[in-house]
Amino acid sequence: MLEFSAPGAAVPVSHTPAGASSATRHSTNRGQPLEHGGVTPSQAAHRHRELSAELRRHDHAYYVLARPVVSDAEYDRLYRELLDLEAAHPELRTPDSPSQRVGGAPISAFQPARHSVPMMSLDNTYSQEEVREFVARVQKLLPGEPLEWVVEPKVDGVAVSLRYEAGLLVLGATRGDGTTGDDITANLRTIRTLPLRLTGEQVPGVLEVRGEVYMPTAGFRRLNEEREAAGEERFANPRNATAGSLKLLDSRIVAGRPLAIVLYGLGEASPEFAPATQVELLQELRRLGLPMPSRMWVCPGVDPLMEAIGELDRERGGFGFETDGAVIKLNSIASRAKAGATAKAPRWAIAYKYAPEQARTRLRGITVQVGRTGALTPVAELEPVFLAGSTISRATLHNQEELERKDIRVGDLVVIEKAGEVIPAVVGAVASERRGGEEKFVFPTECPECGTRVARAEGADDDSAGVVWRCGNPDCPAQVRGRIAHWCSRGAMDIEGAGDVLVGQLVGSGLVLDVADLYRLQLPEVAALERMGEKSAQNLLDGIGASRSRDLWRLLFGLGILHVGAGVAKALGRRFESLEELAGSSREQLLEVEDVGEVIARSVTEWFADPRNRKLLDRLRAAGLNLHSALYQPQAAPGRFSGKTFVLTGTLEGMTREEATALIEGHGGKVSGSVSKKTDYLLAGEEAGSKLEKARKLGVRIIGLEEFRTLVA
Ligand code: IVH
Repeated sequence: MLEFSAPGAAVPVSHTPAGASSATRHSTNRGQPLEHGGVTPSQAAHRHRELSAELRRHDHAYYVLARPVVSDAEYDRLYRELLDLEAAHPELRTPDSPSQRVGGAPISAFQPARHSVPMMSLDNTYSQEEVREFVARVQKLLPGEPLEWVVEPKVDGVAVSLRYEAGLLVLGATRGDGTTGDDITANLRTIRTLPLRLTGEQVPGVLEVRGEVYMPTAGFRRLNEEREAAGEERFANPRNATAGSLKLLDSRIVAGRPLAIVLYGLGEASPEFAPATQVELLQELRRLGLPMPSRMWVCPGVDPLMEAIGELDRERGGFGFETDGAVIKLNSIASRAKAGATAKAPRWAIAYKYAPEQARTRLRGITVQVGRTGALTPVAELEPVFLAGSTISRATLHNQEELERKDIRVGDLVVIEKAGEVIPAVVGAVASERRGGEEKFVFPTECPECGTRVARAEGADDDSAGVVWRCGNPDCPAQVRGRIAHWCSRGAMDIEGAGDVLVGQLVGSGLVLDVADLYRLQLPEVAALERMGEKSAQNLLDGIGASRSRDLWRLLFGLGILHVGAGVAKALGRRFESLEELAGSSREQLLEVEDVGEVIARSVTEWFADPRNRKLLDRLRAAGLNLHSALYQPQAAPGRFSGKTFVLTGTLEGMTREEATALIEGHGGKVSGSVSKKTDYLLAGEEAGSKLEKARKLGVRIIGLEEFRTLVA
């Protein structure tokens, strides 16, 4: 058995917290444009090429090789120079520019994308016996031919197809029904390890490659922590997180999701691109700069094949991403053609799935936890059972809907599963084992902590809307504890010694009711708490004292404003010099901040409008906390379109949409995909359609290309 390893898929994702947007490493700061005046267009183009090449090299070193060669600050400097250059020369903002990774304006719906070669699926099996039968079947189709097999990890993600023309990424699509998928190019562009332009010599004219987008486990965990901290619902597993991210219509949010990609298959390709084997295909993909499977085995026969499957199973725990099986394929492309395909799947490949680690145990009860934002989460209290290396006695039941859908009853024998490194979850109940005494769980209509009636947040604000029940009492002890613990946490104000237990004691004893109370604590009262000596009390007070000088973004994150995670808090810190300035900002100003859309802007505005919150801030100010931002970067003089939203429609004679977008953004404006009351201008070209109608109805100002040219002149 030949082993073959290549760098690529076990991709270390950004060291920066997931969801912290691309900004931490790949700053999108639109700072004061550097002086590019006096530079000729050809000098600008030359410098742009240099910068792009250098940034691409650094991206590769950082994201693929995990060996950065420059500091974040140096990277940011180069990146900013590129942005400034593009602001001054919008024609340089080409689709493969490193600046195009950060996502563009939201769209209203995905366009359909037809696959030139259908995207098939694979037959699945869980049984080794069936793998042997599969091999025998293929041998029967190819009598007398010595068969060579390739085994690759089956990456648990979302299948996509990418189309490169003359080396440039022109289309990225989901599988859809196999014939037509969704055009998700803008979202795929944000994946750092995916080249926007193929590298190397002899780039094929057309190359369609197929692969899988996935979320490495470390990034997945960080994303979930970040979502929890921002009061959003956690994703159940990396595959859901990947699928959910790729479905987003706002690619700027996708840019903050730690996605990775691996490519392993071929769609349409120019005749000159004709690898003879899978091994050759992968070598070619690597040559062109495309990330490919981290590990593969070439097996000359069924026994080495079975051995490879076992080896992959033993190794996959260390891959850093979820692998739910092995994909077994014929190595020779010519033999594949002879073996053919059924309507759904090729005859020359099969997916062998490893059985997930599961266990059965009794559901003793269901408790309901109340989080910092008041969200009620049902938790399964289990008879302890050993599963995948640890004893499990609790597992999440996600939410009421999930509980009802699975019809899980207290007293049931339940199946629990631990897929990879994900937290254990209840898969379902074994209904055939019911003895009659099992009871349906009645989800509380009142908060189990404070008795307030719970309500469901309606509206399409985020993915938890309409599913999660929340306790609306801000004084609910569970929420108070949660808020204070969050404030003290490492990612926020980083107060040493203030763990959950101590916070519980501080709240329980009535010493602390909100975060401002922390700054009034006196040594004797803290030292009098149970299991607290004078020394630890002093340490705690020192920790609290030190937190007074933390930077503004930590305080903003610590306040627990809905949807304001660490990434958004940092972006706000870059845009606003002080808390005062942020508190007095308008919705329009907030919308200008990177990563801030309608939902976040509303949440921030509402938070600052609440008199209780205003009072809290007054007390924090009086307690001597730093309310200034060290991240603040003064803005460029506002462009003539700043705060204005454009929508483009129809064909613009002599100007591409990209050029128009670049001009609008270069003048501080925004481009949106659909017309609404918030649209300031509709830029209408020839054959404008329904958007024009809608703009007329809403009284949006409609301008033609000529008027637009005058405006930007
Ligand atoms: S080959 C004709 N190779 O698993 C289809 N698929 O269960 C050829 N997958 O549809 C697919 N890793 O979405 C192939 N190394 C790999 C894979 C892989 C994950 C996915 C893919 C496929 C599904 C089949």
